[in-house]
Amino acid sequence: MKSINNNQLRLVDVNKEVELYGWIHNIRKFKDLYFIDLRDRWGITQVVFNPTNINVSLAKEYVIKVKGIVVERKSYNLDLETGQIEINALKIEILSRSKELPFDINDNINVSEDLRLKYRFLDLRRNKLKNNIIFKNKVVKYLRDFLNEQDFIDIETPILSKSTPEGARDFLVPTRKEGKFFALPQSPQLYKQILMVAGFEKYYQYAKVFRDEDLRKDRQYEFFQLDIEMSFVDENDVQTLVEKMMQNLFNKLNINLNVPFKKMDYDYAIDNYGSDKPDLRYENRLIDANELNDNLEFLFNNQCTKTLFLENEKISKQQFKQFDEIIRKNKANRLLYLTIENNQISNSSFKIADFSKINNFISKHKFNSGTLFIVSDQYENVCQSLGALRIELNNIYKFAKSDSYEFVWIVNWPMFEYNEDEKRYSAAHHPFTMVQEQYLKTFDSDPKNAKAKAYDLVLNGFEIAGGSIRIHDTDIQRKMFKTISMSESEAEKQFGFFLNSLEYGVPPHGGIAFGIDRLIMILTNSESIRDVIPFPVNSKGINLLSDSPSQVSTEQLDEYYLKLKN
Ligand code: AMO
Repeated sequence: MKSINNNQLRLVDVNKEVELYGWIHNIRKFKDLYFIDLRDRWGITQVVFNPTNINVSLAKEYVIKVKGIVVERKSYNLDLETGQIEINALKIEILSRSKELPFDINDNINVSEDLRLKYRFLDLRRNKLKNNIIFKNKVVKYLRDFLNEQDFIDIETPILSKSTPEGARDFLVPTRKEGKFFALPQSPQLYKQILMVAGFEKYYQYAKVFRDEDLRKDRQYEFFQLDIEMSFVDENDVQTLVEKMMQNLFNKLNINLNVPFKKMDYDYAIDNYGSDKPDLRYENRLIDANELNDNLEFLFNNQCTKTLFLENEKISKQQFKQFDEIIRKNKANRLLYLTIENNQISNSSFKIADFSKINNFISKHKFNSGTLFIVSDQYENVCQSLGALRIELNNIYKFAKSDSYEFVWIVNWPMFEYNEDEKRYSAAHHPFTMVQEQYLKTFDSDPKNAKAKAYDLVLNGFEIAGGSIRIHDTDIQRKMFKTISMSESEAEKQFGFFLNSLEYGVPPHGGIAFGIDRLIMILTNSESIRDVIPFPVNSKGINLLSDSPSQVSTEQLDEYYLKLKN
């Protein structure tokens, strides 16, 4: 077995005979000698050999075994932990050869992500990715240790599971029972609630979950949740536990973190930041400008006007086009802008007869110099579109510091969403979320205004966790189904097993689930969630390493009573 790691040897080891193993990170010839950077998981040690004594033909990424003597280097390399010594090789043995590499094993490479994903085994040799994976293991250990110390029990739940309503599409698993499918879990939601009925009181699980939804930089088909459920608790209890857990984690990572976290109403977040996951590392809020509604008479649908001010920056026509596209993509009709210099409008993307109201607005808000964006449309569309623009402006102008961490609880969520297409209400979280006390009597007759005992934890503009207090009363649960137009027989068919458990003594309970990959993405300052997952699918949902999903044989389909349409 290998007994010395390549980050280990120091001056005290000089004159020792050692045996090192690893990959040839680099090899170069200088005068009559060859110099190898020998890499393993832990680091690099320099090996020197004279080709007249050792006759081997080596290349990058060959795996070799080196026998040699530790000597002091003539000039130290302070970038390396082992930079004061090198190994004078006595013998070099090739254990495995490598083909020519599609890209260098280096953090600063400029190749497509798809090529990296195809050769993921090489990509994972790069320090950045390797360290992300190692870091994830460390973070998960700290989180688990914390929960174990708090007397939580790690309990498994089935992967071959029944579809639970979490809002995404299920991945289905056909079975050899004709016409019957398992679904991969979108979360252990119902099982963890049943574990509360079963009396475990404090449950957690580092659970792999699966959702067939559109992929984004913070979304994968399969990801890890740190799933938590507790009995005899209210919202504050769950939030306090999470704050302690985060503080404990950040402490271990040597980052100062103040608790309790801020709390923000859902409505306030939408109104001021145009998002239910506001990045609070920078202010730049949406500003009400309803006084301009009838001034922008050439716009249709102007029931609501809001603005966003970009201080001290002017934008180009090209940028304006891009920003306008973002606004339209987010359902608002169009973007207007004004350039402001010394409190005066110096340029505008639109003409109206009378700018006096806008001038008053500019003076009122003391906008001195910069660009004022204006959107006028229905309230939701104005908020959503300017919220998206706010994020884009940060992408370009980098208002947010990358090493600061702004947590915020988003609370007082609506209980229901109205689905225009289906002309019915659906649960804004999941249908097991408890309504706030003051809406208990009215939520079914006035679903629009009912608020839920739900909370999301947002970090730097990403939703990293979400949870709620659950319904533990069968009457309320039945009313809930009725409000979302779910018939008793439908509810029975989908959740019968769960509803049955609610008939046998249920403690009040609640919980939360963290998206661990997302958290790691933020903590490692990674561009995408793919950089913290060893074998992710690419943005099109394909695992390029294994070339999956892939076709299966007709025999396999037959076994499952399946036939392809074409
Ligand atoms: P929710 O659906 O909010 O809650 O999911 C919890 C957290 O999981 C992360 N997440 C994802 N991460 C990567 N890729 C995805 N596709 C993805 N989707 C979600 C987010 C999110 O906050 N059962 C409830 C929890 C509960 O009520 O206790 C649930 O799953 O960070």
